[in-house]
Amino acid sequence: MSLPEILQTPLTVPVVASPMFIASGPKLVAAQCQAGVIGSFPALNARPASQLGDWLDEITESNAAYAAANPDAVVAPFAVNQIVHRSNARLDEDLATIVEHKVPIVITSLGARPDVNEAVHSYGGIVLHDIINNTFAHKAIERGADGLIAVAAGAGGHAGTLSPFPLIQEIREWFDGPLLLSGAIAHGRSILAALAAGADFAYVGSAFLATDEANVVEDYKNMVVDSRADDIVYSSTFTGVHGNYLRGSIEAHGLDADNLPKPTSGPDPLEGGLGDIKAWRDVWGCGQGISSVASRGTVAQTVDRLAAEFNDARDALDRRTGAAALV
Ligand SMILES: Cc1cc2nc3c(=O)[nH]c(=O)nc-3n(C[C@H](O)[C@H](O)[C@H](O)COP(=O)(O)O)c2cc1C
Repeated sequence: MSLPEILQTPLTVPVVASPMFIASGPKLVAAQCQAGVIGSFPALNARPASQLGDWLDEITESNAAYAAANPDAVVAPFAVNQIVHRSNARLDEDLATIVEHKVPIVITSLGARPDVNEAVHSYGGIVLHDIINNTFAHKAIERGADGLIAVAAGAGGHAGTLSPFPLIQEIREWFDGPLLLSGAIAHGRSILAALAAGADFAYVGSAFLATDEANVVEDYKNMVVDSRADDIVYSSTFTGVHGNYLRGSIEAHGLDADNLPKPTSGPDPLEGGLGDIKAWRDVWGCGQGISSVASRGTVAQTVDRLAAEFNDARDALDRRTGAAALV
């Protein structure tokens, strides 16, 4: 199956920048699109809900102005993320704003609803739904999603436990539509690996946390730069749903990151916490790939790095597979 037209837009590198609670706002998304990767943000980041329309206008106008001033530049489309979970009281209001603004790509998480998909299809938009296993993947497509985001082990934020290889492989056995791979992808070589495994795009979040445009505090950005895979803790303590967090941000609250208590309530994916310690605001989400983030910088520098690494990896692979063919 060929990709929907909106996903055939040329990109600097085949990446969809994933939506990140608190971190992704109009500045980050516009910078991602203008660097040539598909940008995205959770609708819930626009607060109050009435701000969502202003954000959509701001990104659209910024991208249009950039494209007019840079006619040769690659400017990618953007996506909005809807948390389709009963804890999201804004779902209907945000969906109406999305329909009104004809947002080209909608990413749904934590629940698949046919009426949400139909609303997006009504104006020609597409829906990508994120899943952590093949069972949820089937359900999402049965309920009308156009494409899938396979969230493998090691992803920042709420994450699954499956290795990317069987996850992608099992989905590709029956699904030939748009497929994105998510989880600890922060190096161009990993983007190439995602494509080799069967994905159409890599879905990259944490690699953008340390950028100037990300809406997180300085200490968070610096901790991303200073941390490695061993510093990521997988826990359901804070929201009732398993996710990956920076060890340093857990220990900063006097908690033993290796012996965390069971969740006391929830699941509450966005507003959860442990006593006064709030998930996302105080305990910081992050994926296992961040050793590839060696310094702070702009979104454009991050995308340039990913593209250069991707191209180098492709050349190196050509050399290796060329050599293998001669044996
Ligand atoms: C800080 C943070 C917040 C996140 N918030 C959301 C969110 O609001 N909605 C969502 O669908 N995914 C969210 N995610 C998950 C990402 O969409 C994506 O699956 C993940 O970033 C990919 O893994 P990576 O961070 O290792 O690249 C979040 C991830 C992080 C790191």
